[in-house]
Amino acid sequence: MSGPAEAGAGGPHRAKVWDPLVRLSHWSFVVLIPAMWWTAENSEWGWHKRLGLVLLGVLSLRLLWGFIGPRTARFGDFLRAPGTVLAYFRGKLGGEGEWVGHNPAGGYSTLALLLVMLAQVSMGLFAGDPFDGMTGPLRPLVGVMTADTITEIHETFFWVVVGFIALHLAAVIYYEAVKRQRLVGAMVTGRRAAPAGTEGIGAVPWARALAAVLLAGGFAWWIAQGAPPLT
Ligand code: HEM
Repeated sequence: MSGPAEAGAGGPHRAKVWDPLVRLSHWSFVVLIPAMWWTAENSEWGWHKRLGLVLLGVLSLRLLWGFIGPRTARFGDFLRAPGTVLAYFRGKLGGEGEWVGHNPAGGYSTLALLLVMLAQVSMGLFAGDPFDGMTGPLRPLVGVMTADTITEIHETFFWVVVGFIALHLAAVIYYEAVKRQRLVGAMVTGRRAAPAGTEGIGAVPWARALAAVLLAGGFAWWIAQGAPPLT
């Protein structure tokens, strides 16, 4: 999975840092979040629900991939000890050569972005009013008052998601413009220029990637059915 160095360790090279599933899930978020907003604003509830379930599937895939994906996709790799994050902010780490994927701060921002999106999607599953349009597939599992409260929080919490995305974009622009790190290109191609000795990730086994896609898709489909008992 996280194989040995792709290129020789002898000099600067383009190391593979992001596998296709991390990139695919990332650019899906970029398309899906504005689409979720647009469908809600225009009362396209059928599409809001469908796209929300797609987003649930993509999020489930990314979370699962955080445990079984290649090195740079794993939570265990990019959620570093608090002391390391502090040392990073104080400029006491050596620089890009010390990590391959997310830097020590970017790791926690990744977790935060995934969790706020998950919270928002999860609330959507229980939200809605049957007499006033669409309901989430898990709405029957809670009472009317609870669903009303969840719906209100779901509407307001969207701006929390937007806040996290704004911070994320500000950080990406800062790294691109000030620190001259080509992060966006790396999230598109999967590769970035790396100092000598930096090990990239190896090829992802297709069977594992396919199993992750099927499991995440199956989970979203089961939720879409109202999470019926499995026995
Ligand atoms: C809806 C909007 C967005 C969301 C929810 C979002 C979310 C995320 C998440 C969760 C990650 C972590 C990647 C992973 O490990 O899975 C990430 C990384 C990244 N995102 Fe976004 N993103 C958004 C928009 C954008 C846009 C518009 C750009 C640039 C044009 C961008 C550029 C990047 C880059 C360069 C990284 C890698 C950062 C690093 O090297 O540590 N993102 N984003």
